Amino acid sequence: MLIPVLLAGGESATQNLSIFDTASPQAESIRSLALLVFAITGFIFVVVEGILIYSVIRFRRRAATGGAEPAQVYGSKPIEIAWTTAPALVVFVLVLVTARTLWEVNVPPPPPKVGDNTLFVTVVGRQWWWEYQYVHYNGTPIRAVGPDGKETDQPVITANELHVPAGEHGAPRRVFLTLKSADVCHSFWVPRLGGKTDLIPGRVNSTLFQTDKPGLYVGQCAEYCGTQHAKMLLRVVVESPSDFEAWLENERKPAVEDPELGSARSMFLSQSCSNCHRVRGTPAQGAYAPDLTHLMRRETLAAGIVENKAENLRRWVADPQSVKQGCLMPAFGLSDREREDIVRYLLTLR
Ligand code: CUA
Repeated sequence: MLIPVLLAGGESATQNLSIFDTASPQAESIRSLALLVFAITGFIFVVVEGILIYSVIRFRRRAATGGAEPAQVYGSKPIEIAWTTAPALVVFVLVLVTARTLWEVNVPPPPPKVGDNTLFVTVVGRQWWWEYQYVHYNGTPIRAVGPDGKETDQPVITANELHVPAGEHGAPRRVFLTLKSADVCHSFWVPRLGGKTDLIPGRVNSTLFQTDKPGLYVGQCAEYCGTQHAKMLLRVVVESPSDFEAWLENERKPAVEDPELGSARSMFLSQSCSNCHRVRGTPAQGAYAPDLTHLMRRETLAAGIVENKAENLRRWVADPQSVKQGCLMPAFGLSDREREDIVRYLLTLR
């Protein structure tokens, strides 16, 4: 495990997956634990290997002794007590320090409270992308707004790129994630912000992180979940509270209605897209695939593997399997015109 982590430490800031370059108290707690465990086990390794090498050399077969065995010793109470007590003590210390870190990192979500600036998001792992449902912020439920400008009972849902607020002026902004799976086991892992947390079918897990450092934090599914496990990337965009709130305000809105795009929009709605995808404010209400209401505000497509731009959207709509083999979206055999219309419509979803 250590080798990929050390290698990743040398990459550029935007691809930084190093557990040693921490940006949150939770990740820092994991880092100090890792270093402490490494120091203790490293010390044991050196002592054991030292005694082994010493014994191999000291008691090797020698011509001077005529090849005879050295004196054999049987039973020693002090040695037996020592080699039982010492490992037990080491294990005890490791259990204590690990429990302390678990305690700091695995906090169950508190009830939402107005004024605590806490964000609650439900993360759903899916083959092979992440769904984020924005549930509560600062004690208030997050609700999407309908085309009539009124609040609906739908939550705000987005995919793969998680936006969260940064702490400001010494006031932390905690982010509680509730993690579930829609299919198989996945694991949410953004090394600079916190530890791995599994998403397990039929079970609800939770995790917490907070950071004062705005920026892009990359992560990766850390539990083998099928063909495209390696391309189940995730991005956490940490913004100032005002930028985050502006982003959230826009996410709450229904999809933009551009009257110029009547034909492109009806093309999208007449194809199978709407069976799986949701575009809020339109009849497309599928809940199986990523929510596309504000698709163009995401920087990447297909769980972080390609840049979100017209050319890649075109490739994706024409034949998703050529971009991400095995993904659950099939090619629909669209004509060039149908594909162009759909892409033209998608490009307006900001
Ligand atoms: Cu999801 Cu591996």
